[in-house]
Amino acid sequence: MIVRDVIPTPENSSNFHAVTESATTAGTTLDNLKAAVCGETGASAKYAACAVKADEEGFAQAAKLFRAASAAEQIHIGMEAALIAELEEGYERPTADEVVVEATDLNLIGAAQGEIYETADMYPTFINKAIEEGNAKAVRVFTRAKLAESVHAEKYMEAYNNLDAVDNDDYFLCPICGYIEKGDNFEKCPICGCAADKFQRF
Ligand SMILES: [Fe+2]
Ligand SMILES: [Fe+2]
Repeated sequence: MIVRDVIPTPENSSNFHAVTESATTAGTTLDNLKAAVCGETGASAKYAACAVKADEEGFAQAAKLFRAASAAEQIHIGMEAALIAELEEGYERPTADEVVVEATDLNLIGAAQGEIYETADMYPTFINKAIEEGNAKAVRVFTRAKLAESVHAEKYMEAYNNLDAVDNDDYFLCPICGYIEKGDNFEKCPICGCAADKFQRF
């Protein structure tokens, strides 16, 4: 993802359409924030289990990516839960259902599919609703998550395609928005502008 000279927003970007045949049920922005937290909670738990599986199968680099993405989804949960707390008192975060994992190649493909759903269906649907409600904070939170999920999908597919041809790159996680970079040859986050030296290495 190339660093643009503006922070990406739904207004200045061309990749925010929601698929026509949406699988997302949109409620109010508060409902949507809760649904997003549920989705991210499941994804984070799944990726943590996939990391263990990848290590067991000897795919150390895939394991690093799964751990980075699991932590990224926790960042999204934190952003979304903070907004929920502003809108509703006494909100309790959900716990993840039990997760089932497959072989690492299938886990990478499955993860990419989930990320693509979120980036092209769930989050654009939620962004449109938040724009309609005039909730600028929710637009910004959903936008950051939407953009990060697309990069997660890309990283998962790259790891799938190179599962038997790995390099020594580590993964680097933006602590603000959940963006993931492969390797350390970058200066800042293309989604939120956070400096590279603040990123967490996996
Ligand atoms: Fe993700
Ligand atoms: Fe970022």
